[in-house]
Amino acid sequence: MKQEMIIVLDFGGQYNQLIARRVRECHVYCEVHPYTLELDKIREMEPKGIIFTGGPNSVYLEESPHIDPDIFNMNIPILGICYGSQLIAYTLGGQVATAPVSEYGKTQVSVDQSSILFNNVEATTDCWMSHTDYIAKAPEGFCVTAHTPVCPVAAMECPERKLYATQFHPEVMHTVEGIKMLRGFIYDVCGCQGNWKMDSFASQAIQSLREKIGTGKVLCALSGGVDSSVAAVLLSKAVGKQLTCVFVDHGLLRKNEGDEVEAVFGPNGPYELNFIRVNAQDRFYAKLARVEEPEEKRKIIGAEFIHVFEEEAKKIGAVDFLVQGTIYPDVIESGLGKSAVIKSHHNVGGLPDCVEFKEIVEPLRLLFKDEVRKVGLELGIPEHLVFRQPFPGPGLGIRIVGEVTAEKVRIVQEADFIYRDEIGKAGIDMELGQYFAALTNMRSVGVMGDFRTYDYAVVLRSVETSDFMTAEAAQIPWEVLQRVMNRIVNEVKGVNRVFYDLTSKPPGTIEFE
Ligand code: XMP
Repeated sequence: MKQEMIIVLDFGGQYNQLIARRVRECHVYCEVHPYTLELDKIREMEPKGIIFTGGPNSVYLEESPHIDPDIFNMNIPILGICYGSQLIAYTLGGQVATAPVSEYGKTQVSVDQSSILFNNVEATTDCWMSHTDYIAKAPEGFCVTAHTPVCPVAAMECPERKLYATQFHPEVMHTVEGIKMLRGFIYDVCGCQGNWKMDSFASQAIQSLREKIGTGKVLCALSGGVDSSVAAVLLSKAVGKQLTCVFVDHGLLRKNEGDEVEAVFGPNGPYELNFIRVNAQDRFYAKLARVEEPEEKRKIIGAEFIHVFEEEAKKIGAVDFLVQGTIYPDVIESGLGKSAVIKSHHNVGGLPDCVEFKEIVEPLRLLFKDEVRKVGLELGIPEHLVFRQPFPGPGLGIRIVGEVTAEKVRIVQEADFIYRDEIGKAGIDMELGQYFAALTNMRSVGVMGDFRTYDYAVVLRSVETSDFMTAEAAQIPWEVLQRVMNRIVNEVKGVNRVFYDLTSKPPGTIEFE
């Protein structure tokens, strides 16, 4: 049986992947394509429905994205959202104009409950609006099914032609009944059955990777983080030993992490692939000697990582494909590229320049982090890898304030291990956005037994955050903090004080560097 699919046509809005994600949450496979996708291609794909996204333009301007009007004669249901709704109106002879009053944010919308989109929805419902243009007049054959005091056509439809349009965004969570509306479109208009699950993503991705790669050679930089791990397992299942994973241990990983990664991906692990672990600790420590400035440390670690990887890649020789564990938020962030550089993030961005290859493969490009985790679980990757805390590429190098030495790495590894252990035992690990120990550059006097000590202070950080752009210090129970403090000062040689960082972001950052 052919896989049910909805196609999202992208007109440049911010929520395009979110729409796809919502459709997938309704158990229907969904892909995002540029609005220029040819009608013949669409026919070949046999989608059950098409969704036009929002976008920043005005449909009545010539340079704005338009659509071949034949798309409306293909007998495929279409839902237009925001710009997409205006595009339907404009293309089919309605009127779109600058609204006398723009609407932004949560807005009360009155809906016609006899519409298939709204039959389970309250007569007046909160929806998310974001528009300066509006549909002034619906095209002939359409009826208006929602309005606000200032927006005469907040939704319209032509059920005979299976064309639907909403000025507001049903995909965002602020549209409180949005998912019901999307379900109405997906199930009742498009007639989907909803038999797609995340494991279908995995099997489909494996199948298409196999077709794409054929007998080619594939190289992957494995960090042990969830994204690169899931990408590597997909590739291993698709092409087995044609894949080589290079894992650079820069000596700045958490305690036991290098061995844990090796246990999963190495020769004794469950996956078929070539695994190369490079123990490059000494090289990194040598480069970092006497360097204190955090940004300089980041650059050194990033550059050295690329050198090490390049050397390994040269030994392997020319490869056909380079794998990257890029996920959707990375795509948006790199696309914006306008914000000021607060920290130079280390990721595999520099690798393509140092390796000879024909093409990049990014099997997770369309997924959000929690979707990547679901795929990881489906693929049988151990939970401790799938639910791993976010960990910066430069690793503990940026959780040690001041110069990095092997001794300081040992201290922060031990302290962090105890902290994570106690948080896990207290059962609060899933409630926290991120938590870790860092090492300050401060030494102070203490007393242990009858002796004076002059040792380092460890800082414990723990934040609640949903997007990692802003964060609040988490309120860890006092007794848990006390247990952690006790264990650290007793078990970690070289530490005589433990602090808890209360700073939010902003003005702080999540990492402590
Ligand atoms: P900050 O410290 O900027 O961190 O508030 C926000 C989130 O990003 C992570 N982080 C990084 N992740 N490479 C990464 O892949 C990096 O260089 C890097 N620096 C910070 C940090 O752990 C937090 O989750």
